[in-house]
Amino acid sequence: MSSEKPKTASFVKSTHQKIEELEQMNEQAMLGGGQSRIDKQHEKGKLTARERIDLLLDPGSFQEIGKFVVHRGRDFGIDKQKFLGDGVVTGYGTVNGRLIYVFSQDFTVFGGSLSETFAEKIVKIMDMAMKNGAPVIGLNDSGGARIQEGVVSLGGYADIFYRNTRASGVVPQISAIMGPCAGGAVYSPAITDFIFMVEQTSYMFVTGPNVVKTVTQEDVTSEELGGASAHSVKSGVTHFSSKNEAACILDIKRLLTYIPSNCEEEPPRLPYEMNGDEVIPALDDILPDNPNQPYDIKDVIKGVVDKGSFFEVHEKFADNIVVGFAHLAGRSIGIVANQPMSMAGVLDNDCSKKAARFVRFCDAFNIPLLVLVDVPGFLPGTDQEWNGIIMNGAKLLYAFSEATVPRISVITRKAYGGAYDVMNSKHIGSDMNFAWPTAEIAVMGAQGASEIIFKREIDKAEDPHQKLQEKIDEYTEKFANPYKAAERGFIDEVILPHNTRSKLIRAFSMLENKVDNMPKRKHGNIPL
Ligand code: HXC
Repeated sequence: MSSEKPKTASFVKSTHQKIEELEQMNEQAMLGGGQSRIDKQHEKGKLTARERIDLLLDPGSFQEIGKFVVHRGRDFGIDKQKFLGDGVVTGYGTVNGRLIYVFSQDFTVFGGSLSETFAEKIVKIMDMAMKNGAPVIGLNDSGGARIQEGVVSLGGYADIFYRNTRASGVVPQISAIMGPCAGGAVYSPAITDFIFMVEQTSYMFVTGPNVVKTVTQEDVTSEELGGASAHSVKSGVTHFSSKNEAACILDIKRLLTYIPSNCEEEPPRLPYEMNGDEVIPALDDILPDNPNQPYDIKDVIKGVVDKGSFFEVHEKFADNIVVGFAHLAGRSIGIVANQPMSMAGVLDNDCSKKAARFVRFCDAFNIPLLVLVDVPGFLPGTDQEWNGIIMNGAKLLYAFSEATVPRISVITRKAYGGAYDVMNSKHIGSDMNFAWPTAEIAVMGAQGASEIIFKREIDKAEDPHQKLQEKIDEYTEKFANPYKAAERGFIDEVILPHNTRSKLIRAFSMLENKVDNMPKRKHGNIPL
């Protein structure tokens, strides 16, 4: 007698069994690395990869890609541990109805570490985002390279870095750091346009505290070395820091309201009804009578833009310059403004780099620029010179000069020396340049100028102090105003502060169809 069992229908799965099997696999995938690791994640005050996606996208809009991908690792027993999705949830969905591609690293699977297949999943959605012209949002929470996989993991990172670079300026790329982000893994976020960090639960560094201790003998915690506070205040690596993950995701959604989906689109426009002449009387009262007294440029910004629309970027870093997005009569604009409240608004290394990068983002994504100028010059000193103020100031000069989006400047007060040229002057391609009657446009401040050009006269005078004051008054009368520049057409109009909003709405509307092409070339060579 044959021992072979007769084939019966029970060995072939029925359609319903197959459907059930898929449902079970779907359920399995939802659990990532398992319930106990999900609980651990929650205990640390962190959300899971899927919970984060749910917060980010419009309800029910998420479509997952690659849910059943598993790793191909074989060493160190990892082949016996496979989790559906392999530690990263990827796909697309909508935010306020607009298409978004998203990847969300799942710390519950091998600590969110990046395997070959994990990288392939990210690469796949990045390629789709490029082809379909939509932003990529990466939610990062990862122990870095999947140690068991070795070089294929490093290769996977490089595949992502390469795409980050190819996608730069094509589609917006946004990174949120919601857990560890160490080693070379930091370089993908660094190439993206904006980095968000969550206070106390996220950190970024190239080498962690242990390596730091070995190499430099410094004792430092992860938080001190690369937490949200370190990177939002000291290094400027992160553009935003948020109290918790929910706040972080809300900020990402807000950012999206100002930016287009790709470089060929215009930014979204909100409906707006003109409010009479759009006169803002409060703008007449912001500047103090004493030109050396500070005031808060954010009061000017808030007085000019649509109510409540100013969204500051890099708020805590290099605050002598303010950058951010706003709406003006429903149009998205980028704002760069010197801040007299911090170091008199002087240009230094950090603020030049901060502003240059912001200008380049706006230019890449068709966001017009408004520049508010009150700048006494560049910051002198060995610290500045040795840290490259020449090259860093040149970055800002270059960024403005190459920007082809509509550009408008308003000089509220000081515009001295090289900083006058740099801060979106007419000469470097600005479209409309306004000045308030309080503007002072000259090579340098009246005192410094008088001390140099009238030195002999002052030295010979019976009362050098009085002579100096006379000369300062003479110089102030002659140059510390906007009218010399207006005579030359470097200023298009001297305007009353209360009319600024109205003038800007009209001027940006006039510039709406601006076409300005750069000369043909492979790419420029910005002084990095
Ligand atoms: C594989 C990893 C892993 C990794 C963590 N896990 N990191 N598995 N590769 N890189 C696993 C752990 O074994 C553990 O598995 C689970 O993830 C959770 O990790 P814990 O250590 O229990 O969590 P926690 O205490 O919160 O610490 C998190 C951590 C720590 C700080 C990230 O795990 C850590 O230091 N990991 C190694 C970080 C690292 O050195 N990565 C390589 C960097 S070099 P079980 O099964 O126990 O849950 C790099 C190069 C990239 O990334 C270069 C690109 C160019």
